[in-house]
Amino acid sequence: MRLIFIGPPGAGKGTQAARLVERYGIPHVSTGDMLRAAVKAGTEMGKVAEGYMTAGKLLPDEVVVGLVRERLKAPDATKGVLLDGFPRTVPQAEALDVMLTGEGISLDAVVLLEVPDDLIVSRIVGRRQDPETGEIYHLQFSPPPADILPRLVHRKDDTEEAVRTRLGSYHDQTAPIIPFYEAKGLVKRVDGVGNPDDVTARIIAALGR
Ligand code: AP5
Repeated sequence: MRLIFIGPPGAGKGTQAARLVERYGIPHVSTGDMLRAAVKAGTEMGKVAEGYMTAGKLLPDEVVVGLVRERLKAPDATKGVLLDGFPRTVPQAEALDVMLTGEGISLDAVVLLEVPDDLIVSRIVGRRQDPETGEIYHLQFSPPPADILPRLVHRKDDTEEAVRTRLGSYHDQTAPIIPFYEAKGLVKRVDGVGNPDDVTARIIAALGR
């Protein structure tokens, strides 16, 4: 199974991806997670990425395409993958097409998680992540156990100002890839509003397996 998750920041891509990769036995390839790991490790790529990410801006296409190209060569990604946060521009989608076609591989579906803008800011500013388990919480919608609260991390780009920039990037640069994949008949639109379990069920129903 080869899937792409598209959706605005805070749509629940990371939350749902964690559930689906378990169900389908495929790796979760999140460019955001890979870039955050590079920032934390202080690599050259991390140093480049940090400024863009904190400001809520997209990195240059060639940087992210190179990162994904290498990741897709890893043995665990040869039989299937869930791509989260990539592609995010039409040039990235075209580059992915070239990569997959070169390997004789096709995508199964592009899941578009739809959440209105007015719900996004509250989802993002209340998000906290456990650095030990990777689990994503929300202070109000998905509260963490009290004993782990002190160790939870609030992402630097989860400020109201950065979220507005990220939403702008989504509408200007990422939304145009929807017609690109619609033309290939791959897009499954899923309502991302409501209980996360209900959203998972909708995605599974849309995928039909
Ligand atoms: P990335 O990490 O990909 O961020 P994003 O797309 O903005 O998505 P988020 O991780 O913010 O949200 P999500 O949809 O995963 O939501 P989540 O499940 O956590 O990218 C970060 C940055 O990296 C970019 O800005 C850019 O700089 C760079 N970058 C990455 N990829 C790039 C690329 N391809 N090209 C260029 N630059 C790139 O949920 C959010 C919150 O809501 C959580 O608190 C959660 O608990 C809660 N929640 C989830 N589901 C529900 C629900 N159903 N009801 C209520 N609350 C919910």
